[in-house]
Amino acid sequence: MRRLFPVTDPTVDTTDREWGLDELADAYAYPAAEGAWLRANMVSSLDGAAQHDGRSQPLSSDTDMRIFGTLRALADVVIAGAETVRQEGYRPARAREAFAQRRAAAGQGPAPAVAVVSASLDLDFSLPLFTSPLVPTLVLTGAAAAPERMAAAEKAGVEVLVAGDGPGVDPERAVRALAGRGMRRLLTEGGPRLLGQFVASGVLDELCLTLSPTLAAGDAQRIAGGPSRAVPERMALASVLEEEGFLFTRYRRI
Ligand SMILES: NC(=O)c1ccc[n+]([C@@H]2O[C@H](COP(=O)([O-])OP(=O)(O)OC[C@H]3O[C@@H](n4cnc5c(N)ncnc54)[C@H](OP(=O)(O)O)[C@@H]3O)[C@@H](O)[C@H]2O)c1
Repeated sequence: MRRLFPVTDPTVDTTDREWGLDELADAYAYPAAEGAWLRANMVSSLDGAAQHDGRSQPLSSDTDMRIFGTLRALADVVIAGAETVRQEGYRPARAREAFAQRRAAAGQGPAPAVAVVSASLDLDFSLPLFTSPLVPTLVLTGAAAAPERMAAAEKAGVEVLVAGDGPGVDPERAVRALAGRGMRRLLTEGGPRLLGQFVASGVLDELCLTLSPTLAAGDAQRIAGGPSRAVPERMALASVLEEEGFLFTRYRRI
């Protein structure tokens, strides 16, 4: 992998070589500022597909997965839409030896929590994601969610956070609720319907977008869907890494 941007600093190493996990973690460090920082990590084909046959894996690569794992290892919480959890068979985040020291020094537990966003609470609470995580999995929903599904979650010992007045979650309230529990390094892994709401409500601080050198055609979703913003939000390019035609980009809000 090599760095394509920024390269204005002559001391920046731009050679094509294997990057260690420590280097990746340094390259993707969260800002030191106190407040919550919401980062998204997504992969897209060249023609804008965010999935193929219902999964993102066909668009990904080994290095993309290493970056995916690194971003998880830097986060306090991984926020995922219920459909992604259902389709991708989410499991709890694991503790990784390679990041143990870094997490301890940052005051973080051994692994990030997973927070599932769902209005229906149509989730299988008997899955390992809910029954055997290292850090308890949270569910974010709205106040009008079905009481019997709330009860099912609580019976399974899953903590439900209410972050909306209707059945759905208000993205701003979700960020506040998690930050209020000391989770300020936020990472969302989508999917597109959830990310679209973070974008539309203006709470997304950073997008780590992998541009996969693939063409998929078809009618797959883009990385963000749903109601559009009144005016597209302009982002600033923070960095670009490249390997085997994959571009690992990072954009921040201006
Ligand atoms: N390219 C990538 O990087 C990437 C990343 C992630 C996923 N994906 C792909 O994207 C597909 C799934 O994405 P998706 O967009 O269909 O679904 P999604 O965003 O993962 O999940 C949508 C579901 O999340 C819940 N949800 C979303 N917003 C909510 C809100 N404001 N309040 C309450 N609940 C809310 C709802 O769950 P309930 O139905 O339970 O109410 C909704 O049905 C999969 O094929 C996956 O492979 C791609």
